Amino acid sequence: MNYHVLTLFPDMIEQGMNNSIIGRAMADGKISLEAVNIRDYTTNKHGKTDDYPYGGGAGMVMQAQPVYDAFQAVLERTEAKPRVIYVTPQGSVFNQQMARELALEKDIVIICGHYEGIDERVLDEIVTDNISIGDYVLTGGELPAMVMIDAISRMIPGVLHNDESAEDDSFGDGLLEFPQYSRPEVWNGIPVPKILLSGDHAKVDAWRREQSLIRTALRRPDLLETAQISPKEKAFIAKFLENQKEQ
Ligand code: ADE
Repeated sequence: MNYHVLTLFPDMIEQGMNNSIIGRAMADGKISLEAVNIRDYTTNKHGKTDDYPYGGGAGMVMQAQPVYDAFQAVLERTEAKPRVIYVTPQGSVFNQQMARELALEKDIVIICGHYEGIDERVLDEIVTDNISIGDYVLTGGELPAMVMIDAISRMIPGVLHNDESAEDDSFGDGLLEFPQYSRPEVWNGIPVPKILLSGDHAKVDAWRREQSLIRTALRRPDLLETAQISPKEKAFIAKFLENQKEQ
């Protein structure tokens, strides 16, 4: 996977991503990341990338020309028609399923806006996907771009090592992940759930599945509508919630 991020703050992207698991994936050649400075493609001598909005109003708008020229330069290094993502609060809300799908691409171009956005004409011309990372407004697209790169990359084979497996992830089967415990066996007077010390893998798996169901029902009941759960598990959740009410 090759990421091409068009931004006014390339250092932010490079420094933000060159650590931990994503940094290791780059060093291993599993992914590559270039941060392209849109300012390098301005044609005016002051390196200006924005101007006042037609029709008036607060703020500035990023102009079409430098974004378009930066994109054309990137196209010379990508497959014919790469996905071109504009990160914007006006997009579809990013989720695990989208991360899994995007992990199958060879090149992804991500465009980061600032100020009051980018001239609509260049967006109409080049963007294939408008994506938001949630219903709140950030000062720029760099953090959303980094959030997406992180979530997509860990779905690429080889990026996570065996001991970092994504198999049990929250959202894997539409449920939240079960709680985890590590040494010591008793911390602050609180013991680890006994079943985890039993060595009985089938029992541990069953307990973890129940915990996932309970946790999802309590914290994200909206997920239960699309999660892969059996009628028996549905009944288990209903009974659990009923018992809760009585307490
Ligand atoms: N740019 C500013 N806010 C954003 C958000 N919530 N998602 C994606 N891009 C953004």
